[in-house]
Amino acid sequence: DWVMNDYIEEAVARIREQVGDEEVILGLSGGVDSSVAAALIHRAIGDQLTCVFVDHGLLRLNEGRMVMEMFVGKLHAKVVHVDASEQFLGHLAGVSDPEQKRKIIGREFVEVFQAEARKLSNAKWLAQGTIYPDVVESGGTKTKKAVTIKSHHNVGGLPETLGLKLLEPLRELFKDEVRELGVALGLPPEMVYRHPFPGPGLGVRILGEVKREYAELLRKADAIFIEELRAARDTASGKSWYDLTSQAFAVFLPVKSVGVMGDGRTYDYVVALRAVQTTDFMTADWAELPYSLLKKVSGRIINEVRGISRVTYDVSSKPPATIEWE
Ligand code: XMP
Repeated sequence: DWVMNDYIEEAVARIREQVGDEEVILGLSGGVDSSVAAALIHRAIGDQLTCVFVDHGLLRLNEGRMVMEMFVGKLHAKVVHVDASEQFLGHLAGVSDPEQKRKIIGREFVEVFQAEARKLSNAKWLAQGTIYPDVVESGGTKTKKAVTIKSHHNVGGLPETLGLKLLEPLRELFKDEVRELGVALGLPPEMVYRHPFPGPGLGVRILGEVKREYAELLRKADAIFIEELRAARDTASGKSWYDLTSQAFAVFLPVKSVGVMGDGRTYDYVVALRAVQTTDFMTADWAELPYSLLKKVSGRIINEVRGISRVTYDVSSKPPATIEWE
């Protein structure tokens, strides 16, 4: 629409004026904000932008491939794809405490990103997908929580360490405006209207110690759940169950349970499915998914993911249960 196109033109002009002929780097996570920021800045300055996409080995199925196809294949943006999974998983070995895992993932992320940023020695700017609610939150306008229940990792402090100027073209936008902008810039709606995904990724959805084997099982189970949520429509509203839920995912439980298959006994892992409805993520209800959908998902996971033989559904609301299990 014309309002959005005018906005894009203005934003593009502003970025060009700010940056001039200097180079910009941006940490692309595959999430909505960094993706939209990347698409907008790329529209403005093309190859003066280099995106750095750090794969910590804890992404969802095909996520790395999809990000590369979109940004390199379709938008022709410069993207450095760093496969740092060995490094991340190495540092996570033997660690089972949730906060400790978050700290390690956050710290490694900063380290890998900095190392890549230093290689791009011409860069003068660091771009971030900061949006208006982030600005308000860090400005202290909102009352701070008395205790940190979970430390959310971000890359605060990076521009100073790297000696870069900060470029934040989404600073004035709310989430729904960022999404509209993303669609107007040609990003696929499935990407722009995706459920939120935590920075530490599957690291907090594998309970206890993170292992590559667990991540692989979880990725497959999670992809089946999401695929079926997208495919199933609620007849009353005509919407998919993916759109009717605010966040949905599978959680890997490192416990084995007994089952039977043919003449044999199995002894395999368990996954829990979590789907919630919420407006602010501070409180959330578990979603009343249709039994037929749960049945289909569980049947597919057990049949298609060798190593998982039991599927459970999480019927806990927040509070007291948080949305993530860790
Ligand atoms: P909880 O589990 O606290 O989650 O009810 C609320 C929302 O925050 C997300 N979340 C995180 N996001 N880093 C993130 O970037 C984190 O460490 C983290 N932990 C939770 C969670 O996915 C939900 O959307």
